[in-house]
Amino acid sequence: MEKLLHSTTSRTSLPDCFVFPADQVPPATSAAVSLPVIDMSCSRDEVRRAMLDAGKDLGFFQVVNHGISEQALLEMAAVGEEFFRLPAEEKLPFYSEDANKATRLFSGTTYETGGEKYWRDCLRFAYDFGAGDRIKDWPDKPRRLREVAENFTVLTRGLAMDLLRLLCEGLGLQHDYFEGDLTGGDVTLDINHYPPCPNPSVTLGLPPHCDRDLIAVLLPGPVPGLEVVYKGEWVKVVADPTVPHALVVNLGQQLEVVTNGVLRSIEHRVMTNSAMARTSVALFVAPTEDCLVGPAEKFLSQENPPCYRTLKFHEFKRTYNVVKLGSSINQRTNLRNTQKEI
Ligand code: OGA
Ligand code: NI
Repeated sequence: MEKLLHSTTSRTSLPDCFVFPADQVPPATSAAVSLPVIDMSCSRDEVRRAMLDAGKDLGFFQVVNHGISEQALLEMAAVGEEFFRLPAEEKLPFYSEDANKATRLFSGTTYETGGEKYWRDCLRFAYDFGAGDRIKDWPDKPRRLREVAENFTVLTRGLAMDLLRLLCEGLGLQHDYFEGDLTGGDVTLDINHYPPCPNPSVTLGLPPHCDRDLIAVLLPGPVPGLEVVYKGEWVKVVADPTVPHALVVNLGQQLEVVTNGVLRSIEHRVMTNSAMARTSVALFVAPTEDCLVGPAEKFLSQENPPCYRTLKFHEFKRTYNVVKLGSSINQRTNLRNTQKEI
């Protein structure tokens, strides 16, 4: 299990393979941002407006009064942390380097991207809403992991669908635009674990990336680390203590494509720290593999030609992977160019 970062007991220095050239790890500005807070108990009109404003600007926001109980969130965070504390032999059966495997434990130590390695371990689950027994391959330890993670997945996916309906109304799209194939792919749940790192300023927990799906909901946990690009600079996302049990929402590439760039999918990264492990949980809602995704008619006119090609989601992912291999740093710019109509 030496490939898993968190299983290697003590590290006093950072292995060279994790060190990035300084220009690839520009420090964040000293200003930290609190993401816009969207209170879902406000009127539907206000929520719609606030979401659109945030989606057009930062592409990231947090939601409160979202209807998912504090207990469901705390339990999810707790079982995630507990999983990574299990003895190595109990985790080993789930470890796989096969990226096609839907449910697996893997590590940023094994990425092949030009030798780059990231300071993250991840337990990934896939949840097929159309299937019968959806959790049979999931780890059954810690004891309540399956039950808690399934509950979190169902509730959080429900929230993501609500948010998409609100966006739909706000954008003036047909009310069921995001039902069906556009959101019919497997839901992915990632439990990210970033162990304490001996030299956090020269490495990355996750490289700069835009999420490739439609929408992502993140339970960020209390330890900071997430950073987003805002006005050309990396800014730290800080949890606002006056906003308890918030979930962070991040618009994915497919939403940017569908809205022909009206909504923005923003580049983000994760930095590590030397003192504390960080565990976050991210849920991604994605189209089916064969779903054709392109700009909706509503956003196209003579003055607004399509800025993105219409591609099947699996073709899009192939492009995304190629771009990711070519450049993990300026991915957003590259992706836009690759996606553009020629
Ligand atoms: C991701 C991601 C952020 C975090 O999993 O795509 O951006 O805070 N995670 O772990
Ligand atoms: Ni992400």
